[in-house]
Amino acid sequence: MSLQTAPMTPNGLAPAVEAPPIIETKDVWKTYRMGDEIIHALHGVSFTIQRNEYIAIVGPSGSGKSTLMNLIGCLDTPTKGEYWLNGKLVSAMDDDELARIRNQEIGFVFQTFNLLPRATALHNVELPLIYSGAPSAERLERAKRALEQVDLAHRMHHRPNELSGGQRQRVAIARALVNNPSIILADEPTGNLDSATSREIMGLLDTLHERGNTIIVVTHEPDIAAYAHRVLTIRDGQIATDTRNRQRLQPATAPPPAL
Ligand SMILES: Nc1ncnc2c1ncn2[C@@H]1O[C@H](COP(=O)(O)OP(=O)(O)O)[C@@H](O)[C@H]1O
Ligand SMILES: [Mg+2]
Repeated sequence: MSLQTAPMTPNGLAPAVEAPPIIETKDVWKTYRMGDEIIHALHGVSFTIQRNEYIAIVGPSGSGKSTLMNLIGCLDTPTKGEYWLNGKLVSAMDDDELARIRNQEIGFVFQTFNLLPRATALHNVELPLIYSGAPSAERLERAKRALEQVDLAHRMHHRPNELSGGQRQRVAIARALVNNPSIILADEPTGNLDSATSREIMGLLDTLHERGNTIIVVTHEPDIAAYAHRVLTIRDGQIATDTRNRQRLQPATAPPPAL
């Protein structure tokens, strides 16, 4: 038997193993037809996202953020180009397959929380598991655990109108986590929150990222994008910049810097 050693790079370290990206888009186009007018909401968007990245997608109104988010979130498919999510070719899927992959792979967080008003926090969090057919005892257990992850186990029997805005968004984040998705996709998650509560929610997303989740936040607010580790700017349906955020904000419980 011969001893096989890994090839070394010039600095003497073994090369990093290339992990497959969690997301890959290849020359993605989305075209809408409005009467005689053709609108290219996205034209030629290509990027990759690795597991456990924390990304903000920013851009002015009308630049294509929602269109891109609908594609990433498997709510829609591109007119042209490929979208790979977790090794699966989403761009070729029909509506049933899209619904299935969306339920398995994506945890959505919306600006308006989108909770069922008459249902308790626990029931709201349990809902995605009902759609995926998990047995009742397991559903309850997993929903409780997701609420613990957002520090809301003590409010699980409250309805949304008995919770603050920040607590409602925590319930929505627990609901996003409950299926153990590949990515958490948050669309303007702090758009309806005051600035102190926004910091609290961004702190929670930071914690989830540290625990290994992949996070994508769509926002038009530079303050919110500043929490991400990488920022994709979209302009006129194309990626304008793709930058590492070296001076990212440290939310959580860090005190504000002294003046
Ligand atoms: N369903 C649609 N039909 C026609 N045009 C659309 C549709 N959705 C979006 N658009 C157009 O595509 C462009 C990008 O829109 P959108 O993705 O909503 O941008 P953003 O979320 O950044 O504001 C805009 O010009 C918009 O008017
Ligand atoms: Mg939008």
